[in-house]
Amino acid sequence: MLIEFQNVSKRYDDGTLAVKELTLTVQKGEIFVLIGPSGCGKTTTMKMVNRLIDHTDGKILIDGREIYQFDIYELRRNIGYVLQQIALFPHLTVEENISVVPDLLKWPKQKTKDRVTELMQIAGLDPVLRQKKPTELSGGQQQRVGVLRALAADPEVILMDEPFSALDPISRGQLQDDVKRLNDELGKTILFVTHDIEEAMKLGDRIALMRDGKLVVVGTPSEIRASDDPFVLEFTQRGRGEVDA
Ligand SMILES: Nc1ncnc2c1ncn2[C@@H]1O[C@H](COP(=O)(O)OP(=O)(O)O)[C@@H](O)[C@H]1O
Ligand SMILES: [Mg+2]
Repeated sequence: MLIEFQNVSKRYDDGTLAVKELTLTVQKGEIFVLIGPSGCGKTTTMKMVNRLIDHTDGKILIDGREIYQFDIYELRRNIGYVLQQIALFPHLTVEENISVVPDLLKWPKQKTKDRVTELMQIAGLDPVLRQKKPTELSGGQQQRVGVLRALAADPEVILMDEPFSALDPISRGQLQDDVKRLNDELGKTILFVTHDIEEAMKLGDRIALMRDGKLVVVGTPSEIRASDDPFVLEFTQRGRGEVDA
């Protein structure tokens, strides 16, 4: 297993217990989807993996090593992160946006250029977009660039927090297909947060449903469909969840 939560809890400074004794494992190479209503603790869970938030109890291990044992920069370099809101740097070109992490790592210029070319091909982005600024791109193209930026330095794990919820249904479907391909062809392990059950069913090798900071159930899409847990039924039959905050 690649990421392991052992009895992990998070209490914020104001006393809010956002995650309660969470135990789960993400296997190498899988797409693991965390789903649940707004406020159930999905983002907190995800941010604890790359230590944007520190957990207050339990253990989180990556490849069998507790996350505190990693140098924090090394940890974050090995974990790509895609946010809900398209968070490109507006003053940088597409190429410069994708190159942010390789530049921080001081990759040779040609290596970075080649990597940008390769990634844009993988994502089916027209090479003419390289020199454009984010505002010259559609929402779907911008979020694709956001995904490529997270992939640039070839991290083993990618965290995606409701990455497509602001997109129209067509772009969203295309980007979901991209995520599947990244996983199939590049073998990336993806921890994906959504509140949309259809998205979870389409993408997840396994799905974990959370409620009030607790894990309700973990299973494959067919196991989730077959579950007779009342909250699972309520949640899956509700179709698309409410818009998340
Ligand atoms: N910085 C914070 N301080 C205090 N409470 C927080 C903070 N961030 C989130 N919370 C609370 O923790 C709970 C879980 O939030 P979050 O992980 O963002 O949920 P989700 O991503 O599932 O919507 C919510 O009750 C939220 O209000
Ligand atoms: Mg969230």
